[in-house]
Amino acid sequence: MKLLALAFVSAALLAACDSPTGSTCPPTDPPTYASFGQAFFSKYCTDCHSANSPNRHDAPGDQNFDTEDDIRRHAADIDSEAAAGPDATNTSMPEKSVNVMTLPTLEERKLLGQYLACLQAQ
Ligand code: HEC
Repeated sequence: MKLLALAFVSAALLAACDSPTGSTCPPTDPPTYASFGQAFFSKYCTDCHSANSPNRHDAPGDQNFDTEDDIRRHAADIDSEAAAGPDATNTSMPEKSVNVMTLPTLEERKLLGQYLACLQAQ
């Protein structure tokens, strides 16, 4: 019984505390802002994370992803909240409280991890 309780507590801790994904930028056909980033962030994130959003749903005021520079500045946080890679699959974002929203697929989360790695390598 004690072991079972411990397992639940560890699972809860793991879920609450997302990790960097360890993604790398692929040498061929790396995802770019034009081929991936712009569409991904406007589909899944900027309803809340935009300086121009009429309803941020309480997204922090300093977390805006309107431009590639914005995304680069927050790349480490974004990786830990929404990307997938060899070391972690993070699904804390998009915030699920607004449940009419489509969530990114695992494939898209992996591309996000690669895209962020490419951005930081530039
Ligand atoms: C429906 C609104 C909404 C959407 C859509 C959304 N977020 Fe958020 N985001 C929030 C809220 C609210 C918070 C603050 C609470 C929290 O951290 O859970 C937040 C916090 C964050 C943070 C800061 C976390 C920290 O600990 O500092 C990051 C990074 C983030 N979101 C990334 C994203 C990314 C990337 C997407 C798109 C894939 C996204 N969010 C989509 C509402 C949203």
